This record gives sequence, C-alpha cells and structure tokens, in this order.
Amino acid sequence: MTPFFIAGRPATSDDAVEIRHPFDGRVVGSTANATPAQVEEAVAAADAVRAKAAALPASVRAAALDHVSARLKERAEEVAQLITGENGKPLKWSRGEVGRAVSTFRWAAEEARRFSGAVQRLDTDPAATGRIALVKRVPKGPVLGIAPFNFPLNLVAHKVAPAIAVGAPIVLKPAPATPLSALLLGEILAETDLPEGMWSILPIPNDRAPALVADPRLPVVSFTGSGPVGWQIREAVPRKHVTLELGGNAAVLVCEDWDDLDWAATRVATFSNYQAGQSCIAVQRVYVHDRHFDALTERLVAAVEAQVTGSPWEDATDVGPLISEAAAERVESWVGEAVAAGAKLLTGGTRDGANYAPTVLTGVPRDAKVACEEVFGPVLVLERVESDEAGLAAVNDSQYGLQAGVFTRRLDRAFEAHRVLDVGGIVVGDVPSYRADQMPYGGAKASGVGREGLASAMTDYTEDRVMVLTGLQL
Ligand code: SIN
Repeated sequence: MTPFFIAGRPATSDDAVEIRHPFDGRVVGSTANATPAQVEEAVAAADAVRAKAAALPASVRAAALDHVSARLKERAEEVAQLITGENGKPLKWSRGEVGRAVSTFRWAAEEARRFSGAVQRLDTDPAATGRIALVKRVPKGPVLGIAPFNFPLNLVAHKVAPAIAVGAPIVLKPAPATPLSALLLGEILAETDLPEGMWSILPIPNDRAPALVADPRLPVVSFTGSGPVGWQIREAVPRKHVTLELGGNAAVLVCEDWDDLDWAATRVATFSNYQAGQSCIAVQRVYVHDRHFDALTERLVAAVEAQVTGSPWEDATDVGPLISEAAAERVESWVGEAVAAGAKLLTGGTRDGANYAPTVLTGVPRDAKVACEEVFGPVLVLERVESDEAGLAAVNDSQYGLQAGVFTRRLDRAFEAHRVLDVGGIVVGDVPSYRADQMPYGGAKASGVGREGLASAMTDYTEDRVMVLTGLQL
C-alpha cells in the first residue's frame, strides 16, 4: 500500500482504497484515506511551521524545488506509467505531463530566486522627504490545494511548487481516483530538507473536503475542478483567498484569411481528443468562416477518424478511456440529447465501456449541453459562421472563458480577438489547448478566478507588506 504524507512523514490508516485502471478496471495500486485525526495533525503542523516556512532562505526553497524537478526527470518513465495506470491517459500524454511537471518545478525554483519585492520612493510629497518604502511579499498563510484527476501530477505541481517557492506550507488533497502520482511526488519531496509540516499529501473522500476548506488555519484555498464545487467553496469561505481553476468549453475560430486547412484540421482533431477530451482547454467548439467550412469539415472529419483509439499502453494510441464508465455514459447521453434535438452526427457517437469514440457534431442547438456546458470528453461541435466578427461573437457566447484559439495570420484580427474575447488567454494560429507552465493560466466568467502559472500563483499566495524607512535618501 502506498503511504500518504502527514507533515512530510509517511503514514497510513485502516481506511484502504484501491485504485483501478480506467481501461480495464484492474487494480493498479492502493493507498488509504487519512483519518480525521491525521488530517488534524497535518493542518496543525502546517499552522505551527508557518513563520519558519516564511523565513526559509530562497536558497533552501529553490534547492528543494530543483531537487524535485531533477528527480522527476530521472524517474520520468516510472512516473508516466503510474499516471497512465491510474488515469488511463495514453502513455505519450503521460510522458508529456511528466515533462511539464519537471518544468513546473524548475520554473518555481527560478522564480523563488527572483522573488524579491520592490523599493518605492516616497519623496514625491515634500512632507515625505527622506522616506522610502520597501515592499516585500509575504505568504498569506498555509495553502489548501485541491487537485483534479485529469493531470494528476502537473496540476498537483501547480499547487505545491508555488507554495514552496514563497515559503507557504501546503496541505494537498489529490483527486480520489488518482492519488498515486501525487504520493510519488510526496516520496520525492520527502528527500528534501524542507521543514516538518511544510507539506502534507492527504487522500480523503470529497465529502470530507468542506471541513478542510472551512478550517481557519488554511487561509488560502487553491482549487481545480468542477464549477459547482468551486463556486460552493468560494461562497462557503468569503473571507479566504480562493483561487478557482474551473471548466471551459474552449472554442476555435478559423478566420477567412486562414489558408492552411490541413494544419487547422490536424490540430483541432488532436486537441479535441487528447486525454479523451479531459482537459479544461480541450477544443470543444469550432467556428469556421463560410469560405472554408465545407473544405475544413471534410479534412477535420478525416483527421478525427484517423485518431487511433485503444489501449493507453500502446505507443500509437491517441485516445484512451475516460476516467470511468460513468463519465463515458454521461458523454453518451449528452450526444444523444443533441442528436435528438436536431444535431447531425458527422462521425463517432459510440461507446464501449469507459471508451467513447472521437465524435464530431454539427447543427447543434445552442442550448444543447454539448454546446453550452463542458463536455470533458472527445466531442467536437463544428459550426459555420458568416464572418470573422460573427465567429468572435460565437466564441464569446458561452458562460465560460478559459482560452480560445484563433486561426488567422492578420495581425489586426489577432489584436481584435485579444481585445474582445472574454477569456483568460488566446492562442493565435493554433488551438486553445496550448499551455506553457510559466504563463498565467486561468479563466474569465464561470471558468474561475485567479491565475496559475508560477509567478502568478506566487503572487496569489502572498500579499504586500510595506516597511517605511525614514531619514534616508534614495
Ligand atoms: C486543465 O485542464 O485545467 C489544465 C490544462 C493544462 O494544464 O494543460
């Protein structure tokens, strides 16, 4: 049984949980849920170490982060296999995730070395002659990180690495379906010199999370997951600093000037289906200028049909299972509902256990769930637009606003999209599914509040503290 970690020390309990492989249901590992007493121990330790953690020299924080980055790189293939085992994503995507986590920790180390504060002159007012403000950022306090199943390593890294970088203790709750990658990370963190209490990784069932969220000793909550749960958290603890990375139904616009339809079709087909669509920035909606609609539709359907489905362990596999059969059944019912409402199925629409075939729909009513909710499955909605302007409006016609992709070579169109789209980020000339781990990442509207990305999360986890010096001249 894989141990969990209380205040950096391995622990276990009688409440054993088996982790099953989504592709065939076999048991791939086991761990245990932390008991309420063990959770209390972890939170008390985080609270007790907060002053010591905040005072840790940058060299100590950066060295720990560099160590994690290096060890993940050394153990990359083992970690990738663990991710595929518990999450079911094809091995090639797991390998990509490990590479990203290596980079996430490396960036955190670099940002920890840079994180210095600022000097502000105050002698702009004659009465303040001889005064200087030194502004540094101090941790708001211990962080509660709640991570999802779809990137069981790298989205855990995005909670843990910035906390260590700023000297904030963290209590991390991995997703119940995928705790093993986070626990392997714990094994590596236990090799560092970080003080006791600085980090804990605690599998607990979701229904015990509200008590942790409410605990006043954890003033910062960083949550990635579903919208309803995220907004409930924010409403439950209005006085806490809450960061929410929630869902999306990311859109692509193929503009009138875009001529490389093969590239657009290949990229959309790949990134509507990667991880079986289980990414908040997987392509879900595609709006195509009338000039290209027929030609792109033909290429896109062919590219989607060329996606190799099957066992996630095969190197050739592009699309594996969803996280569970229940998840695939939900996708099946949403597609069925859209077709019943008049949508045309261009390809896909079949299910085998937890596997759902890459699917393309067109003529989807605006209020069908596959169009207006987050599918989190390998389903694409393809629609014709009469102009680029109408396409931009269609992209914005969503409760969500995480990222969008705009296929154009026109600089003015790119700037227009950046100006008018109500999203956290746009990608020009590619799909919205691109994320570099150092860049600010997060959403507008129902997609969340706050930003991840190392420097942004470090800002989120800290606040300004000013020291005014008197009798000095800058
Ligand atoms: C997410 O699904 O929110 C994360 C996407 C990513 O990190 O690539």
